[in-house]
Amino acid sequence: MAKESLTIIDNRTGKQYEIAIENGAIRAADLRQIKNGSDDFGLMSYDPAFTNTASCKSRITFIDGEKGILRYRGYPIEELAEHSNYLETAYLIVKGELPDRKHFEMWEHNIKVHTMVHENIKKFMEGFRYDAHPMGMLLGTVGALSTFYPDAANIHDLESRRLQTRRLIGKMPTLAAWAYRHTRGLPYIYPNNELSYTGNFLSMLFRMTESNYKPNPVLERALDVLFILHADHEQNCSTNAMRSVGSSQADPYSATAAAIAALYGPLHGGANEAVVRMLERIGSVKNVPEAVKKFKAGEGRLMGFGHRVYKNYDPRAKILKKMAYEVFEVTGANPLIEIAQELERIALQDDYFVSRKLYPNVDFYSGIIYQAMGFPTEMFPVLFAIPRTSGWLSQWAEMVRDPEQKIARPRQIFVGEKLRAWTPIEKRPVPVNREDAVDTSI
Ligand code: SDX
Repeated sequence: MAKESLTIIDNRTGKQYEIAIENGAIRAADLRQIKNGSDDFGLMSYDPAFTNTASCKSRITFIDGEKGILRYRGYPIEELAEHSNYLETAYLIVKGELPDRKHFEMWEHNIKVHTMVHENIKKFMEGFRYDAHPMGMLLGTVGALSTFYPDAANIHDLESRRLQTRRLIGKMPTLAAWAYRHTRGLPYIYPNNELSYTGNFLSMLFRMTESNYKPNPVLERALDVLFILHADHEQNCSTNAMRSVGSSQADPYSATAAAIAALYGPLHGGANEAVVRMLERIGSVKNVPEAVKKFKAGEGRLMGFGHRVYKNYDPRAKILKKMAYEVFEVTGANPLIEIAQELERIALQDDYFVSRKLYPNVDFYSGIIYQAMGFPTEMFPVLFAIPRTSGWLSQWAEMVRDPEQKIARPRQIFVGEKLRAWTPIEKRPVPVNREDAVDTSI
């Protein structure tokens, strides 16, 4: 049996090193012993955007990008989407096991008693412009929650972590719905805990004058499945933000606000909004070939395609593509789906996309479904943030409890100026427009 190690010869010194391989990885810190002289800091690994760097060990979500596999705590996403519901899946992600009936009912109660928010949040929300992006409002209000719950700073206290987890999972739909109502100039609707987690969210969003809002069961179930699909996804950009901010021992509300900020970007959770805007710009199936030509020429990206991990079809996209038609049964078809399917058909036959292993990801179809369900485009990333809260908090708690983790502080490779002496302003040359300057607007 080959030894689980690397033998490295440093050709600069002729020295040989044994580096252990553990879980298919080497510890970057083990490279530090490789020095080229006594004053050498030692070797580092250089990995911009962490394309090949494991930042942690985790038990929560498993992804096999080549095979298009996604499992939460070992359970295939396809089975959870078919048989589970979001709150049960959130329990699984946070607690590690599926609940029995008694524990599920306790969990559901413990979440529902936290759906209300402090009345001051209304005043806080009123401070946003009428046309504020709801994701910016969510980011602000979640960050503000840290000032309402100073006890959340006790991150090493298990009961405190549990309480903040229940509070955030319970309150996210309320904050999201109120952000939407604010942009529409509509009164806020208080939580109705008689309804399901997702049904209550639909009620807070869309209830008007009816005294007893009843969500459409097909749409309620579709949104619940969408929430299941978005609940966690191992070390994605926003989870990395959650873990990094949390590693300084900031409270979980501040860390979640940072995760929301990361998710806001169009390359991440903002992609579902960008997909729909892209499809609307393309406008019709006959314009698709021209659009694909532009993407291949590097004029913009085929949003909703490609993934850092999946080099095969995102299993979530498969489920959403099928579910879209169940939603359309109720809402009427969203004509954008024809453009999306033609884009997919052409791209999956085109070497530019195939050679780069670019397949539809979770965002390619989710926005089309949200739009058919009556959500405005700017709400789409908010609909991603709500379910991902259980994943973020679970990953955060795993980081807090991990004895190998400490404050995240990467190193750098310095490529700037060597030592220089300050000179009086009169003696300085006209500054030049340096190409490598971060701001060349001299
Ligand atoms: C999510 O990480 C997660 O798990 C995220 C997520 C989750 O659940 O948390 O799955 C959710 O964020 C899904 C991804 C949503 N984003 C988009 O749909 C935006 C469009 N896709 C991309 O921008 C891109 O594919 C990323 C950001 C998703 C992945 O980027 P990578 O891995 O850094 O790949 P890259 O940018 O280095 O691209 C590799 C090549 C490049 O071409 P070359 O330089 O080799 O010529 O592929 C090209 C890119 O130009 N490319 C695309 C493309 N995505 C990559 N070309 C056209 N259209 C695209 N969508």
